Amino acid sequence: MRNIAFLGAGSWGTALAILCANNGHKVTIWSKIKEETDMLREKREHVHRLPGAKLPDSIEIEDDLEKACEDKDIIVISVASPFIRQTAASIKDFIKQDQIIVNVAKGIEDSTLMTLCEVIQDEIPQANVGVLSGPSHAEEVSKGVPTTVVVGAKTEKTASFIQDIFMSKNFRVYTSPDIIGIELGGALKNVIALAAGILDGMGLGDNTKAALMTRGIAEISRLGIELGGKMETFCGLSGIGDLIVTCTSTHSRNHNCGYLLGKGKSLDEAKAEINQAIEGVNTARAAMALANKHHVTMPIVEQINAVLFDNRSAEEALDLLYLRDKVNEYSALTWEN
Ligand SMILES: NC(=O)c1ccc[n+]([C@@H]2O[C@H](COP(=O)([O-])OP(=O)(O)OC[C@H]3O[C@@H](n4cnc5c(N)ncnc54)[C@H](O)[C@@H]3O)[C@@H](O)[C@H]2O)c1
Repeated sequence: MRNIAFLGAGSWGTALAILCANNGHKVTIWSKIKEETDMLREKREHVHRLPGAKLPDSIEIEDDLEKACEDKDIIVISVASPFIRQTAASIKDFIKQDQIIVNVAKGIEDSTLMTLCEVIQDEIPQANVGVLSGPSHAEEVSKGVPTTVVVGAKTEKTASFIQDIFMSKNFRVYTSPDIIGIELGGALKNVIALAAGILDGMGLGDNTKAALMTRGIAEISRLGIELGGKMETFCGLSGIGDLIVTCTSTHSRNHNCGYLLGKGKSLDEAKAEINQAIEGVNTARAAMALANKHHVTMPIVEQINAVLFDNRSAEEALDLLYLRDKVNEYSALTWEN
């Protein structure tokens, strides 16, 4: 049995906390939002974010952040991506040398263009930071739907340690040393999910969606490799795997936001209707900035930015993508003659 803290109790933190408790671990949940901890304590369920998933009796709810982090084998940061830095900053003074911290959020910090593990490491240099990511809707994980994810860490020992904690009959965990690749796949697929939603909202077909996903992973991996990620990772669970699940599911807020845009709603109208953080919107801007900084071509990301922030219609964006200059599918392949 291990001692685990979850900082952040939305749908994902709650689903993973239940998974770990069912695996026999001692789990403590903390949230900055008092109504959230009160609700979890009283109802033993996150009635808004994960209705129907009851917390096992063994899970403790803690309002004091220092106590929540005390003597934990791992600390999982499960807040939404805009709150990662402030959450990491608020625990840095009581984190011991080599404390394992696992990020499960997906995004890129707007102001620094850092990945979320980089943000945590920046705030807590003494921590041993890893990531867990992959095609995994909280709603399905909480119902025991068979799911696979990947854990990235600096050493195999740390990755295996985290793997052992989360692994269960219906939750298979792989390991990898490619932290940056895992994080970039998880963050950037949200931008492509917005585009997939737009195509669905426009009523386009399977051909167009398949093309978007394939060319989407092509540009994610182009940027990702430039930033140090590995092609194998973009072909794996946290890359193409997460892209498939997000682009094809109605559980995805990013896909749902895109769908409303494709139906002709404005970004503000779509945000108001969904009424939850849509991480792909911020990530679209960050991805464009990274692409410009590293001179990487990302045509889909460019068009999504124009639709989101420059009032370009989805129809015009699609035309511009289809009428781009002719290119090879994969520029690294060479011709015989
Ligand atoms: N929901 C999923 O299926 C799923 C799966 C994999 C990864 N993720 C990732 O996990 C992260 C969390 O997603 P979620 O679905 O649980 O989101 P959510 O909106 O359900 O919950 C976000 C949580 O962040 C915390 N939070 C909100 N405002 C805060 C603040 N000001 N300070 C500190 N904490 C605050 C709260 O605990 C809140 O419940 C996201 O990055 C998401 O991409 C989600």
